[in-house]
Amino acid sequence: PACTQEEVNKVMDAAKVAQKAWARTPLWKRAELLHKAAAILKEHKTPIAECLVKEIAKPAKDAVSEVVRSGDLVSYTAEEGVRILGEGKLLVSDSFPGNERNKYCLSSKVPLGVVLAIPPFNYPVNLAVSKIGPALIAGNSLVLKPPTQGAVAALHMVHCFHLAGFPKGLISCVTGKGSEIGDFLTMHPGVNCISFTGGDTGIAISKKAGMVPLQMELGGKDACIVLEDADLDLVAANIVKGGFSYSGQRCTAVKVVLIMEAVADTVVEKVNAKLAKLKVGPPEDDSDITPVVTESSANFIEGLVMDAKEKGATFCQEYRREGNLIWPLLLDHVRPDMRIAWEEPFGPVLPVIRINSVEEGIHHCNASNFGLQGCVFTRDINKAIMISDAMESGTVQINSAPARGPDHFPFQGLKDSGIGSQGITNSINMMTKVKSTVINLP
Ligand code: G3P
Repeated sequence: PACTQEEVNKVMDAAKVAQKAWARTPLWKRAELLHKAAAILKEHKTPIAECLVKEIAKPAKDAVSEVVRSGDLVSYTAEEGVRILGEGKLLVSDSFPGNERNKYCLSSKVPLGVVLAIPPFNYPVNLAVSKIGPALIAGNSLVLKPPTQGAVAALHMVHCFHLAGFPKGLISCVTGKGSEIGDFLTMHPGVNCISFTGGDTGIAISKKAGMVPLQMELGGKDACIVLEDADLDLVAANIVKGGFSYSGQRCTAVKVVLIMEAVADTVVEKVNAKLAKLKVGPPEDDSDITPVVTESSANFIEGLVMDAKEKGATFCQEYRREGNLIWPLLLDHVRPDMRIAWEEPFGPVLPVIRINSVEEGIHHCNASNFGLQGCVFTRDINKAIMISDAMESGTVQINSAPARGPDHFPFQGLKDSGIGSQGITNSINMMTKVKSTVINLP
């Protein structure tokens, strides 16, 4: 359904009422319900995965993994929540100059109220529960605005929470057009926190949102720096996995390879050999490369490819597109004047820039407006750490492609890649506020 603004108002009112009672529900009971929801979610993995296959063309195996991973995330969140929210702090006054020990400050974490969660199309279930779980365990209510592509999977996932017995109004899913309810939701006075994952829209939201905490993950141009001493088979395997899983439609996909000239030919050859083996086709057949999410997305990718062609990039494969299906493409000898050197295609097209020094690679990485993740391949751990320190990215992976998981790891972007840090513990903390009570002795 395309919800109206009046319907959004009703959901917000219900969320506000439900949250008050939920905040008084014992923490262990909140955790118990989350564990139940996690189990139901896993039981429903087949129908939810089918939705993901049909709605967002996620390869069948990956779709099932997304649901199972989501159930595990919810369970872990319940366990982490009872630990970190079950602890408070006691401060005494005489550690600050001029004070006697006559004040005792008790502080603990309390919920924010109503959390608005907006996940992207590429993980409509997993990146929804990564917001829902922390919000609920911390005593908040939650309103989910799922992506248009992925909305049916998200509704089914929310239904699992309802089946688990969460109180009415505590978790709602509002589907509809961004043009009708997008700004209305993000600027709604009933919202006390926004957790968003997606693209540029997040920057617009951050400018319009009120005085509420924001958690944002807005994409990246993850660089893969390859040194001469790297294990080149490992490099090739990770470039293919990192750059082409789910047809490159991941914020953490490898989006530019910065490789030392001396090993570039060998790695390009190894990557091409692997790309030739990828299965291209419909998601139902568990193809590796499936159609990208929309026609406009495919057109955008094509625009980047054509720009690179005009400016002289080397095409390692012939460019091929049928509708929204784009065959995997490696572009070698990409130069900084090409759009694809900087923009994220969110598709199965990967640029390779040959470098003559590590500094050149770090410079390219840091000149990006993004700073989500990056990776470096070398057998020299000292060099790897120094490069990691120099890269302006929220996370740097040594000898592996970028990835958000395991889902309890901190996940954050610098610059235009986001605000705040995700990961289970960080999200729980972010969706709470510190509340203090001070006991004053006579
Ligand atoms: O694009 C979403 C981003 O969070 C990637 O997640 O698990 O594919 O690294 P993952």
